[in-house]
Amino acid sequence: MQVQLKVNGKSVSVDCPPNTLLVQAIRENLRLTGTHVGCDTAQCGACTVIMNGRSIKSCNVLAAQAEGADITTIEGLAAADGSMHPMQAAFKDCHGLQCGYCTTGMVMSAVDLCTRHPHASESEIREQLEGNICRCTGYQNIVKAVHQGAAAMAHDKAAIAYGA
Ligand code: FES
Ligand code: FES
Repeated sequence: MQVQLKVNGKSVSVDCPPNTLLVQAIRENLRLTGTHVGCDTAQCGACTVIMNGRSIKSCNVLAAQAEGADITTIEGLAAADGSMHPMQAAFKDCHGLQCGYCTTGMVMSAVDLCTRHPHASESEIREQLEGNICRCTGYQNIVKAVHQGAAAMAHDKAAIAYGA
């Protein structure tokens, strides 16, 4: 079947079997491999992307269910000149990662969280990121990064429009 999507601002058509997961379409058909697969059972959050303005686990959605959707992956966050989105920069500054496997999903969830709750407290950040599992960092620097990223996003409202 053909599935029409808008991914990182570009209209694309994906030719895939009806049982294709959205994460497979993103990684295998579109070759956007920044979106990771950690569990395939909607638990780890490594596959998180933003679909129609909300973060979702793309291993939990069929590509066919996303027909017509507007999707942003980690590759679509940076500005046109290649500079990092404020949340990406905050993860780098705060060392909010070690192996990096969870990081793209964390960043996508954090961007969604801070777009909806720019002044989220530490406990709200921890609660909202419960669906994203990190095996390395102990989460402390991730929470620090999300705080810093939220402040930077609030300062630079244009950055809230992904890829601005
Ligand atoms: Fe989707 Fe783990 S791969 S939640
Ligand atoms: Fe390794 Fe999070 S940095 S899983």
